[in-house]
Amino acid sequence: MEIKKQLFGQTKTGEAVFAFTLKNQAGTKAVILTYGAAVQSLEFAGVDVILGYDTMPDYEAQDKYMGAVAGRFANRIGGGRFQLNGTEYTLCCNDGANHLHGGICGFDKKVWTADVEEDTLCMRYTSPNGEEGYPGTLCTEVRYHLDEENQLQIEYQAICDTDTVLNLTNHSYFNLNGHGSGTLQGQEIQIFADFYTENDTACLPTGVIASVADTPMDFRQPHEILERIDTDFVQLRHAGGYDHNWIPNCFVKEQMRKCAEVYARKSGIRLAVFSDQPGIQFYTGNFLDGIVKGKKGASYPRRSGFCLETQGFPNAPNYGHFPSTVLRQGEWFRSRTVFAFTKEHPDT
Ligand code: BGC
Repeated sequence: MEIKKQLFGQTKTGEAVFAFTLKNQAGTKAVILTYGAAVQSLEFAGVDVILGYDTMPDYEAQDKYMGAVAGRFANRIGGGRFQLNGTEYTLCCNDGANHLHGGICGFDKKVWTADVEEDTLCMRYTSPNGEEGYPGTLCTEVRYHLDEENQLQIEYQAICDTDTVLNLTNHSYFNLNGHGSGTLQGQEIQIFADFYTENDTACLPTGVIASVADTPMDFRQPHEILERIDTDFVQLRHAGGYDHNWIPNCFVKEQMRKCAEVYARKSGIRLAVFSDQPGIQFYTGNFLDGIVKGKKGASYPRRSGFCLETQGFPNAPNYGHFPSTVLRQGEWFRSRTVFAFTKEHPDT
């Protein structure tokens, strides 16, 4: 595995942004930017399966969290408020009355520092006390490693000088027929989960843990992503498609398990997602709008990419019955996600 560094561009404020290319012997290549610690591309079997942009102005012009680390808190916190140790904290709201993916200037918009440690790329960002309303100075490290089995391994670590809340994920949009190949047609997903968290009209969990049985949320057997997406089912109507937190079965703290698998018939590419987190957000790019042109002039219209965001449950700080997302002062947060790629014979 080799890692190469080159200048990618600079932010509006003149900060240099670097691109690190991780390449294994099979020729699989991942490009990671110091802007947002974002995965900019992933070329597997000759197909670039991740949506992204070619320039910094494009990254700064979009608001889709393209490939980035979402933090401090991935997904929504209702009303931008939560209580911790008897104190109420108010966060910046950037999604109507709610806080989304870390707020107005979350981790996706920060320039991270980067070091190469042997065959791993280590990115770090220190979030000052009070940033976006969160308590404590938080040091976060995200480590990217591409192995010889074509697995992109992501490790998250964080530590804070006070009690705080934390939920880190990667917000890559995948299209296994290639970025810019149109909608998600012909791609089927399996999610190994009996339950999901039900949403209200603002995509915030209602607190109800719902069974997938007999609903279009049931992916225990593989289904085409688009097959049932426009069904007249209230959860899909609220979100304009899939945009929910599934609860993959067999959660044991700090243990990896397979959460989901996606297969594209045309390319023969299969992606399996492993994680030690209690939840996974399956989001079908319902808010992609093609406004900012993607890499090599590609267009990214609605539902042309899917995200599989391994995570704690959305709005967990406001629900005592959700797995805790509290990070105690001086304790290390550690979590892992693996995106594993294999190729089968395409059907056509
Ligand atoms: C959320 C969507 C949100 C999107 C932002 C996803 O993780 O679940 O509701 O609109 O991120 O691009």
